[in-house]
Amino acid sequence: MNFELTEVQRDIQKLCRDFAAKELIPNARQWDEAHAWPESAVKQLAELSLLAVAVPESLGGAGLDNVCYALSIEEISRGCASTGVIMSVNNSLYCDPVMKFGTEAQKRDFLVPFARGEKLGCFGLTEPEAGSDAAAQQTTAVKKGDHYVINGSKNWITVGPKADAIVLFAMTDKSAGHKGISAFLIPTSTPGFNRQKPDKKMGICGAWSCTIYLEDVKVPVENMLGKEGDGFKVAMSTLDGGRIGIAAQALGIARAAYEEAVQYSGERKTFGKPIREHQAISFMLADMATEIDAARLLVLRAALMKDKGVRHGPESAMAKLYASEMASRVTNKALQIHGGMGYSKELDAERHVRDARITEIYEGTSEIQRIVISASLLKE
Ligand code: CAA
Repeated sequence: MNFELTEVQRDIQKLCRDFAAKELIPNARQWDEAHAWPESAVKQLAELSLLAVAVPESLGGAGLDNVCYALSIEEISRGCASTGVIMSVNNSLYCDPVMKFGTEAQKRDFLVPFARGEKLGCFGLTEPEAGSDAAAQQTTAVKKGDHYVINGSKNWITVGPKADAIVLFAMTDKSAGHKGISAFLIPTSTPGFNRQKPDKKMGICGAWSCTIYLEDVKVPVENMLGKEGDGFKVAMSTLDGGRIGIAAQALGIARAAYEEAVQYSGERKTFGKPIREHQAISFMLADMATEIDAARLLVLRAALMKDKGVRHGPESAMAKLYASEMASRVTNKALQIHGGMGYSKELDAERHVRDARITEIYEGTSEIQRIVISASLLKE
């Protein structure tokens, strides 16, 4: 497996790194404090074709590969974790399944404008009683003539408050378990589609999420994504890709914390020398750098496998499991290196700890990743 980046991959990495330095790092703290949606950043992501990195140009995307996508998410999240996850939701959880399972008409109406960044998409799988146990969907879709009538609720829907459409999962046959789940493409302006206020959260405060109530939402039959009963597979294969994005997000957050710790520990002196010249600190930095590199290799392997079109579910799960738990360890160490200043809101160390924590939860908790990985080991 060749991990050497191509010229195109290095170019996109640099473009995103420069964009993060200029537009994201100077604003991220303020977006976090104000719980503000990073409007200007999302607009610029669209202009840079970063809202659909791996979607072909003919469908409105950047026409690049999944390695480029992972590198971009890392750099954007290094600048602002909220912007990173907004980018990953539109790319991985919305555009990717429409590209993979959509009809030509669905791609025209539900992919092209979203890939161009004229509109934003989101993903509605989680419910109050169906989080880790995604097959336990309570939302129902009942066929009535040429449309389905959908009733139920979804929660923690990242980008939900701003999205123009959703890939939504609902039971079309409650007696069939996961084989009774179907996926639908629904404009959020459809009557009966009601969004609550953005959730109050510990971190990624600029990436708004919300609860959605669906009350007799009428969806034309042609808006079913994939075949009736295939919704669970649509969801699972979408998450196989999405988890690469979250792993890359965790990597970006960890890098932000690590780079700030390296700088601070070079400036702060104790006992007559910069603290990073004390072994207690330099060994911490060594461990952080090693873990970040290990996580990046796992992320790149999963992205390369997705690009090759081979099964990559367990590898994505490994990347997400390791990168997210690594990000929590690294951000906590970075806070520790900053001492009292790490606990202060005057610096970013505490934000990185809060932002990293969610990567161990969304798109499947660490425990779910261990289920996916161990199930694949037992099959072999
Ligand atoms: N691709 C395709 N098909 C898959 C698959 C995959 N990766 N994984 C499983 N399947 C298929 C299986 O082959 C099986 O099919 P058959 O019945 O035809 O054999 C079927 O799906 C059921 O598989 P399981 O028996 O393994 O399913 P399960 O009910 O035991 O659940 C699970 C498996 C991995 C625990 C799953 O429920 C899961 O991933 N849960 C976590 C959900 C999650 O990640 N939610 C995140 C929400 S999105 C989000 O967080 C967004 C955000 O805010 C940013």
